[in-house]
Amino acid sequence: MDADAFRTRCDAYREATEIYLNRLFLDNDPWQKLYESMRYSLLSGGKRLRPMLTLECARLGGIRDWRDALPFACALELVHTYSLIHDDLPCMDDDELRRGKPTNHVVFGETMATLAGDALQAEAYRLIAEAPELTEAAKLEAVRSLARASGASGMVAGQVLDLTDYGHDRETLATLCDRKTCFMLKAAAELGCAAANASAELTAALARYASLLGLAFQIRDDLLDVIGDEATFGKPIGSDKAEGKTTFADLLGADGCRAEVRRLTDEACAALENVGDAEFLVALARRLAERTK
Ligand code: IPE
Ligand code: IPE
Ligand code: MG
Ligand code: MG
Ligand code: MG
Repeated sequence: MDADAFRTRCDAYREATEIYLNRLFLDNDPWQKLYESMRYSLLSGGKRLRPMLTLECARLGGIRDWRDALPFACALELVHTYSLIHDDLPCMDDDELRRGKPTNHVVFGETMATLAGDALQAEAYRLIAEAPELTEAAKLEAVRSLARASGASGMVAGQVLDLTDYGHDRETLATLCDRKTCFMLKAAAELGCAAANASAELTAALARYASLLGLAFQIRDDLLDVIGDEATFGKPIGSDKAEGKTTFADLLGADGCRAEVRRLTDEACAALENVGDAEFLVALARRLAERTK
């Protein structure tokens, strides 16, 4: 896929996601500050990788119009945003910069940041339940997949391992990252497949791609935490070290991280072998392997 075609499709997915999210939490209520806090993080310029995955997987699954999958794509982005707000709290990673802006708790205080995360998580399931164009079976599958990926043995479990010093070698760190990051990317693919009522074979291939992409993505994130440029990355450099974490950057070194990201990216693309029309996902994986933000 040439660079122009890739950019055009990325832009279409990203713009549709921004428009959908921008319509949320605009009511005029006495608890207005909560909406402000939710919208602050929701609309602060994330890469929208997960919605892009959901929308592209829905398209590959043969959905009538990929826009019909927007409620699923954005539901997952709400859960992702809640996870970032909580991840930055002083009781977790204690970070003050995200997407190039002060973190939610710095602007709104810890209480409101905690509550904004809580509300985003619940609202995600409302978006799924109320998706106008999708079937009840697709919604049930989406709820199951998102809850599994983000819940007590999913992303939250990964955060527990991350914050309790579990990852000290390759194997334990891979387990931790699988839950912390890969589960959510895998769910993004699964939600797209659910929206399109895709076959089990296609769903399995896309889920495997997304999961491998997730590990490459987290290794690149760990590397950028060391060698990145704060203005571009939008997050503080050296935060993992300051928090006393062992990351892939410690275990593999910079060159080792780069090599591992390349290997996992190749493996992710190989998972698409029997998926027709997979050029966009291949191009996406290749770009993410070189990302600086
Ligand atoms: C950040 O995810 C959390 C990790 C899994 C490393 P992203 O890098 O996708 O964050 P945004 O949404 O683009 O800010
Ligand atoms: C967090 O991983 C992944 C989440 C589940 C939020 P990190 O702690 O490395 O993410 P960043 O670097 O703060 O985005
Ligand atoms: Mg963290
Ligand atoms: Mg963090
Ligand atoms: Mg990080």
